[in-house]
Amino acid sequence: MAWLSDTRSSYDTDASGYAEKVRGLLDERPYLRASLALFAQLVRDAGGGPVADVGCGPGHVTGHLHDAGVDAFGIDLSSEMVAIARRDHPHLRFEVGTMTDLDLADDAVAGIVAFWSVIHVPDDAVPGVFLEFGRVLRPQGLLLIGFHVGDQTRHTSTGYTGRPISVDSHRRTPGKVRGWLRDAGFTTEAELVVGPDDDVPGALVFARSNA
Ligand SMILES: C[S@@+](CC[C@H](N)C(=O)[O-])C[C@H]1O[C@@H](n2cnc3c(N)ncnc32)[C@H](O)[C@@H]1O
Repeated sequence: MAWLSDTRSSYDTDASGYAEKVRGLLDERPYLRASLALFAQLVRDAGGGPVADVGCGPGHVTGHLHDAGVDAFGIDLSSEMVAIARRDHPHLRFEVGTMTDLDLADDAVAGIVAFWSVIHVPDDAVPGVFLEFGRVLRPQGLLLIGFHVGDQTRHTSTGYTGRPISVDSHRRTPGKVRGWLRDAGFTTEAELVVGPDDDVPGALVFARSNA
């Protein structure tokens, strides 16, 4: 799959630039912090358990969840990202892997957070990714997904470090994501659109596995 290898090599190339860009970002994003706090509370209310931060990048969200009392670990396609995550959060577990084929047993996790990572998965591969999330989630497990709102695909050819990369980011409506989730056996419990008047709003969708 060309998109997968392009995404991997792009984030390998740009890992340090991306990590610098998002350092401390959660401090400036109250709606993201509130969503993560709610997610942590809902996972705890359901009895706790491991939570996978899928497409964790440099691990700042994984670290935030850990600080919120969640047994969080990170998975990312890019080995360079995972190296940075391990360096910055040496007390946490990070593994290289892909959301298209997670190296996790069925029903292994109580929750999944996927913040702005499914944005790199093309439409025709999203249903398979959501089925994979449902496979590794416990029955009634919770998914929190964050993504750019819109209906276009943006191609990026220069990374934050100024080096050439090649990666697509797909913007989606919450309704489109909700439809894919429904087809994959999830019930959407809540949606939040952050910055609805911005050029590119962000969406956060909380969904629970029916299985
Ligand atoms: C925009 S960054 C988001 C990183 C982090 N979640 C955040 O909120 O800042 C996208 C991340 O998703 C990872 N990624 C993209 N496709 C992936 C896949 N198929 N499986 C796992 N990780 C993936 C990339 O390597 C990158 O680290």
